[in-house]
Amino acid sequence: MEIGMQEYSGFPLDEALQYLQGRIHDSPDVFLVLGSGLSELAQGVESAVIIPFEDVPGFPSAGVEGHTGRLISGTMSGRRVLIQAGRFHFYEGHPGDVVVAPVRLAGALGAKMVILTNAAGGIAEDLEAGSILLLDDFLNLMFRNPLVGPVREGEDRFPDMSQPFDAPLRERALALAPELGIPLRRGVYAAVLGPSYETPAEVRFLEKIGAHAVGMSTVPEVIAARAQGLRVLAFSLITNRAAGMGAGTLDHQEVLEVGKAAGGKLGSLIQALLPEIPGQGA
Ligand code: HPA
Repeated sequence: MEIGMQEYSGFPLDEALQYLQGRIHDSPDVFLVLGSGLSELAQGVESAVIIPFEDVPGFPSAGVEGHTGRLISGTMSGRRVLIQAGRFHFYEGHPGDVVVAPVRLAGALGAKMVILTNAAGGIAEDLEAGSILLLDDFLNLMFRNPLVGPVREGEDRFPDMSQPFDAPLRERALALAPELGIPLRRGVYAAVLGPSYETPAEVRFLEKIGAHAVGMSTVPEVIAARAQGLRVLAFSLITNRAAGMGAGTLDHQEVLEVGKAAGGKLGSLIQALLPEIPGQGA
């Protein structure tokens, strides 16, 4: 097996960018990524231009149920948004430069701010199904990094990760949530490769090393966004207690259903936060 080829495929960034520039005429203020079961949030977009993944040069079509697979450009809460509904995951076998192609494209289109969402298993005692976690920090246990390969123009070779998430916006989210009646907890997200869910022993290990929640996405995008100097905010929607932490077994369908049921709360928090983000000309 050629390890190098696993990580880097030479994604046609310029070609994809040219295509998107032909479809999207204004720079986005915010790039928003919707995780499993959260794609309904995209329904609040005004003047939406919808671009299926298969239309974008180099994009594979999103393969996981609950991941719709499209980009949506438009306006939400007075801000220009580019939304990615559906993701490319390492566990699907995609190379790192494909996994983070959307966030690189959003940066190249002019977005300065990235909001990432995901579905995750709750490890901390108070993270039950339906809870929302604001990410303070992460543990990259995927043992992969999307920056492996040639350095992209405008990115650092060794990006600093001492503050992966934007402090002022985290403070705003924490202040706004109680006003909306939304309990918001903060903590550390552990990213694992998947696609199998964790064993109870793995979850006990994650708890010991400081993880509050566990999932299979988001960290590659955070890394690529920070390498470009973008501001990042990320939320986990807790869809289940992590393996061994609650009763029963884990099932993707259940993850999707909880995502749909509790996703509305996270959606209203994000909509309330958007006006706090600098818009065009700011
Ligand atoms: N583990 C990993 N990923 C997840 C989980 C989980 O328990 N729930 C939703 N995504």
